[in-house]
Amino acid sequence: MDCLIALLILCSFFNNKLCSATNDTITQNKFLRDGDILVSHGGIYALGFFSPGNSQKRYVGIWFNKVSEQTVVWVANRNNPVNESSSGVVKIDGRGNLAIFNGNASNSVWSTNISIKVTEKTSSALSYKLLDSGNLVLVQENKSDVLWQSFDYPTDTLSAGMKFGFNWKLGLNWSLTSWKSRDDPSNGDFVLILNTRGAPDGFIRNGSRVIWRTGPWNGRTWNGIPLMSTNFLFHYSFVNNSDEIYFSYGSNNNSVFDRLHVDDLGFFRRSTWLEDSHRWNEFYSAPGDACDHYGKCGAFGSCNANNAQICSCLPGYEPKSQNDWYLKDGSQGCVRKRELSCGKGDGFLKLEKVKLPDASNARVDMSLGIKDCETECRNNCSCTGYSSAYVDGSGCIGWFGDLTDVKQFTVGGQDLFVRVDAIELGNSTRHSKGFFSKKNLVLLCVLIVVGLLAFIFAFYYLFRRAKTRGLPREERSLHELLSNLPNEETNAKFDLPIFDLDAMMLATDNFSLANKLGSGGFGSVYKGKLSDGREIAVKRLSKNSGQGIIEFKNEVVLIAKLQHRNLVQILGCCVDKEEKMLVYEYLPNKSLDFLLFDRTGSASLDWGMRHNIILGIARGVLYIHEDSRLRIVHRDLKASNVLLDAQMNPKISDFGMARIFGGDQTQGNTNRVVGTYGYMSPEYAMDGLFSIKSDVFSFGVLLLEIISGKKNSGFYCEDHSMNLIKHAWELWRDGRPWN
Ligand SMILES: *[C@@H]1O[C@H](CO)[C@@H](O)[C@H](O)[C@H]1NC(C)=O
Ligand SMILES: *[C@@H]1O[C@H](CO)[C@@H](O)[C@H](O)[C@H]1NC(C)=O
Ligand SMILES: *[C@@H]1O[C@H](CO)[C@@H](O)[C@H](O)[C@H]1NC(C)=O
Ligand SMILES: *[C@@H]1O[C@H](CO)[C@@H](O)[C@H](O)[C@H]1NC(C)=O
Ligand SMILES: *[C@@H]1O[C@H](CO)[C@@H](O)[C@H](O)[C@H]1NC(C)=O
Ligand SMILES: *[C@@H]1O[C@H](CO)[C@@H](O)[C@H](O)[C@H]1NC(C)=O
Ligand SMILES: *[C@@H]1O[C@H](CO)[C@@H](O)[C@H](O)[C@H]1NC(C)=O
Ligand SMILES: *[C@@H]1O[C@H](CO)[C@@H](O)[C@H](O)[C@H]1NC(C)=O
Ligand SMILES: *[C@@H]1O[C@H](CO)[C@@H](O)[C@H](O)[C@H]1NC(C)=O
Ligand SMILES: *[C@@H]1O[C@H](CO)[C@@H](O)[C@H](O)[C@H]1NC(C)=O
Ligand SMILES: *[C@@H]1O[C@H](CO)[C@@H](O)[C@H](O)[C@H]1NC(C)=O
Repeated sequence: MDCLIALLILCSFFNNKLCSATNDTITQNKFLRDGDILVSHGGIYALGFFSPGNSQKRYVGIWFNKVSEQTVVWVANRNNPVNESSSGVVKIDGRGNLAIFNGNASNSVWSTNISIKVTEKTSSALSYKLLDSGNLVLVQENKSDVLWQSFDYPTDTLSAGMKFGFNWKLGLNWSLTSWKSRDDPSNGDFVLILNTRGAPDGFIRNGSRVIWRTGPWNGRTWNGIPLMSTNFLFHYSFVNNSDEIYFSYGSNNNSVFDRLHVDDLGFFRRSTWLEDSHRWNEFYSAPGDACDHYGKCGAFGSCNANNAQICSCLPGYEPKSQNDWYLKDGSQGCVRKRELSCGKGDGFLKLEKVKLPDASNARVDMSLGIKDCETECRNNCSCTGYSSAYVDGSGCIGWFGDLTDVKQFTVGGQDLFVRVDAIELGNSTRHSKGFFSKKNLVLLCVLIVVGLLAFIFAFYYLFRRAKTRGLPREERSLHELLSNLPNEETNAKFDLPIFDLDAMMLATDNFSLANKLGSGGFGSVYKGKLSDGREIAVKRLSKNSGQGIIEFKNEVVLIAKLQHRNLVQILGCCVDKEEKMLVYEYLPNKSLDFLLFDRTGSASLDWGMRHNIILGIARGVLYIHEDSRLRIVHRDLKASNVLLDAQMNPKISDFGMARIFGGDQTQGNTNRVVGTYGYMSPEYAMDGLFSIKSDVFSFGVLLLEIISGKKNSGFYCEDHSMNLIKHAWELWRDGRPWN
């Protein structure tokens, strides 16, 4: 007790300097030894010695204090580690520098190397303080100026509040340089740097080679990262004045830990820490698809990752080397189809939703609107294209040379106007715009009426024809599809036993109604029995579903390659003129939804069975995602696509909408969102983005359905607006059990 009082007296005597609970500062007489850590006031960030990965070397860094997986955002001595463990010391030297020493050695391995003049007197008033933003700042007692800050010397990470760009006045270079490897934070090959020539654009470079661009700043976000828009969590800003030019972002909630960084392999990644699952959730990484690789389609090429042939030429251009082009190498780019005779009827064609071309050599004038921008470009024959600088239509970018690295988006992007010659312009106007001009309005009305009549006749005729003679057009497209497949896949198709139509008709008693098991979007499923006694299920594609052909091909190719006890097994297929059928093993217990959402059926599903079914589905999904030769996203996982065999083992079926991913591809994008609402992840339903995570989302919905026995879509509780996911989420959030 006496001791405590003595301590209190001592404390008041020393004006709280010694006893203050804060340990977020290093002062003249307070060192930081290896093993100690500095923690920012709110406990957000920590600073101390660490060894990355398998390295034994000691570095001084700043990391997220509350994130269980040590995540370093800044490294002081990245190129000069302390070799011996536990001998390192961080202290302020006589010139006010924060320096790292190895034991008693007189030379530091690293120092802040500040340029201010420090006297004996001021030096004692200096302290380095770790802030809750993750910034380590040098401040002088009673002064508000920051004399040095770690935010001015970024390593590989941009945290909220940091700047990315340049300060011309102070000569600061705010660029990110990757680590060499996970074990070595020294300067790696990849640098993310703001390219300030032309329109400001972030480039990842490997040496002098550009790997990827963010796309120009468009007033709200980077033109090439449509996903990165301001939302309730983050806001972005871009500043350009005579002193500095930079991008920075802020978080509206400082308990959300977020970072942008360039990893050791040259990927730009954006991730947020998920406290609940103790991991970083990455919601953006680049280069993502093939089109993100800088200049993939060369000069005047345009890249669209959704097309089989990803490269195409801008309007008015044709491939420079037809050979390479058809070998799927677009890097040679495109050249004009014909000489442009400037001022003689040439004009501009609009490309929508694109990543604007590399604007390093473009002319940028923020004072011009889009009309003046067009005039400027039109009046200079060497101008190849123009666009608004910002999405709100202000500013002008004019290109005077190659248009390189154009990418087609499905959402986001900007309009690019490409200069084309008179013939191209006339051609396209005939096809689209000119059609709607006032002059043609009367003609248009007449055409619509005539067209409508023609359509009705044609439809009637085709319908009749399809009924009687089938659709040869469809047949041809199936043939094309199958023969266009790369060899390996075609072989897989022919590995599959082919059944003839007669055998199928015999097996299913001429597709009798009594044998019909169900029907879906693409046709009906019948039970059948082969002559050898095997029971089968036959999926018969409806004859005039043009859509079904693609799914049919997809399923044949995919499922023939997959062998797993939790995937339904395909036994063969049958193609006979307009008839297309898939033959599967017969599963007597039908699909999961029959049992699950049926009062008597669900009573027969005990917890053991449900558990078994969940595990089985999970194994099947794991197999298609990770363990099979192909990486496959099913895209339509739902209760009616899970079949049950005699032992109630689940088998995933219906690969009609599945997509194959390349070995390292993790995300895709589609114009045509298919699947079942209620099971689709929001980013897929809204933006067409899908990945194995979309299946995991559907699996989660399925899991909730299996546990609750309720349909996600048809779920009602007191509040009629709620679906099952939302209800489950609210229960989870409130820690309440289901009742
Ligand atoms: C600062 O506080 C943290 C915990 O709050 C502690 O782990 C650390 O050792 C302290 N550092 C120093 C230098 O006292
Ligand atoms: C640490 O070791 C490396 C080589 O292993 C050497 O180049 C460097 O000078 C050493 N640093 C110190 C501070 O001893
Ligand atoms: C550093 O110096 C102190 C006192 O001068 C001494 O006790 C200590 O052993 C020295 N440490 C090393 C590693 O030389
Ligand atoms: C310290 O900074 C000065 C310029 O301010 C520079 O000339 C010098 O090389 C730097 N020293 C170190 C060790 O970085
Ligand atoms: C800072 O201000 C306090 C009170 O105003 C004063 O006592 C102290 O001497 C000042 N410190 C310095 C280094 O000027
Ligand atoms: C900025 O730093 C990066 C990485 O070290 C370097 O590649 C680039 O040339 C620097 N730029 C300027 C203008 O100093
Ligand atoms: C980066 O450049 C180096 C040297 O030019 C090269 O060996 C390496 O493959 C490049 N890496 C990538 C990812 O392009
Ligand atoms: C940035 O600011 C500088 C100087 O104020 C100006 O010359 C330049 O055109 C600006 N760049 C953009 C893209 O606005
Ligand atoms: C900030 O995020 C935390 C964790 O995600 C959340 O619990 C909290 O409600 C959020 N605060 C605000 C003001 O949104
Ligand atoms: C057209 O633009 C080019 C490139 O910026 C420039 O060199 C040339 O002087 C311009 N020509 C005219 C007629 O303005
Ligand atoms: C006109 O456009 C069509 C399709 O858009 C194309 O097939 C044709 O080659 C074009 N004609 C000329 C002369 O460019």
